Amino acid sequence: MTDREKLKILLSKAQEINSEQDTDKLLILLSDLARDMIEADRCSLFLLDEEKNELWTKVAHGVDRIRVPSDKGFVGWVATHGEPLIVEDAYKDPRFNPEVDRETGYRTRNVLSVPLFNRKGKVLGVFQAVNKKEGSFSKEDVELLSLLAKFASSAVETSILQTKIKEAYREAIMKLSHAAEYKDPETFNHIVRVGMFAKLMGEALGLDKQVCEDLMLAAPMHDVGKIGIPDAILQKRGKLTEEEWEVMKQHTIIGYNILKSSKSELLQMAALVALDHHEKWDGSGYPYGKKGEEISLWGRITSIADVFDALMSKRPYKDPWPLEKTVDYMKSQREKAFDPEILDLFLENIDKVMEIRERFAD
Ligand code: C2E
Ligand code: SIN
Ligand code: SIN
Ligand code: SIN
Ligand code: SIN
Ligand code: FE
Ligand code: FE
Repeated sequence: MTDREKLKILLSKAQEINSEQDTDKLLILLSDLARDMIEADRCSLFLLDEEKNELWTKVAHGVDRIRVPSDKGFVGWVATHGEPLIVEDAYKDPRFNPEVDRETGYRTRNVLSVPLFNRKGKVLGVFQAVNKKEGSFSKEDVELLSLLAKFASSAVETSILQTKIKEAYREAIMKLSHAAEYKDPETFNHIVRVGMFAKLMGEALGLDKQVCEDLMLAAPMHDVGKIGIPDAILQKRGKLTEEEWEVMKQHTIIGYNILKSSKSELLQMAALVALDHHEKWDGSGYPYGKKGEEISLWGRITSIADVFDALMSKRPYKDPWPLEKTVDYMKSQREKAFDPEILDLFLENIDKVMEIRERFAD
């Protein structure tokens, strides 16, 4: 292939690579590009799994995913030494790990491997081209694969960082939501379960995957407004007086006001959850007596999750109810408290609901 032809391939893919948001797809694009430009038979991207001391193929052309020990074979050598490697005849090299060929039924002739580094210079994985179509891998091939490895490293690192941020964010939300209910002796798992039930209903309604993920985090925030309610009321063992009840109902508006000013879509959703989770389908709920679809979908979903879980659980003012009594009560509230369509979906999935209750039992 002439340089001109290589440039053509590179330019034809530049736009696509530049605009790809999905890390997995981007890595496939980069592997394809590497294979085509280097004129190799296939290209694999191995990532380092530090816990297991293994390298695994994030992208592998035409073969199943494999895992190899992180110090074995050519990829292991490159990961350990942090240097590129060209091998002319794999089977004559003592570093070769023929296990892989045996597993994949492939015949490795020659190999070019380069390391992937993160910003701190730590090895993240290995980019490997196998079987040059004609002749052997050149110095130019090393340069090209190293360049593409830099793109791949930065994509991988960003993706790892995003996952970490999402996890930390999720944990912070769960812990803070719990802190609000904490005054009220509800358990941490009540928060987790309400989120999981809400996600389940979102999925049953066929909502977008990201929306379902957001619901799982937003629904647990339904009672954040309880942070503004005096302990004497929250933790009262018996029935509330009329006055105390008026104060208690304010937890919806307090929660809404805490959350509403954020630009984040997730917190916007959570604000509506807090405001609407005690509204009822027939208009008899609080704080505003909204009716039917005037109540946000997020509020309608969360109210089913929250009431079901509150009934099944112990509260300072009540003992847990058995499942049958709870389901009968939920049904009796169809079109009264609850959106009938969503309630039906929830009850159709009662097996999954009970699995969640068992998995996150108090
Ligand atoms: P919560 O304990 O998290 O209960 C959430 C919702 O579950 C209640 O909203 C209600 O719709 C349903 N629920 C819970 N227990 C029962 C029950 O024994 N029977 C029936 N039919 N429904 C039940 P609600 O009623 O708007 O109450 C909101 C919050 O106000 C409750 O949250 C709880 O923190 C407090 N609360 C309600 N009633 C009492 C009470 O009698 N004594 C005390 N100390 N707190 C109460
Ligand atoms: C190895 O690194 O030894 C395995 C090479 C391959 O992917 O075939
Ligand atoms: C935790 O256990 O602290 C977090 C659990 C979760 O996010 O579901
Ligand atoms: C509020 O004033 O706190 C809520 C207003 C609304 O329901 O839109
Ligand atoms: C929807 O997306 O259908 C509902 C939005 C909302 O009720 O707030
Ligand atoms: Fe509430
Ligand atoms: Fe609750």
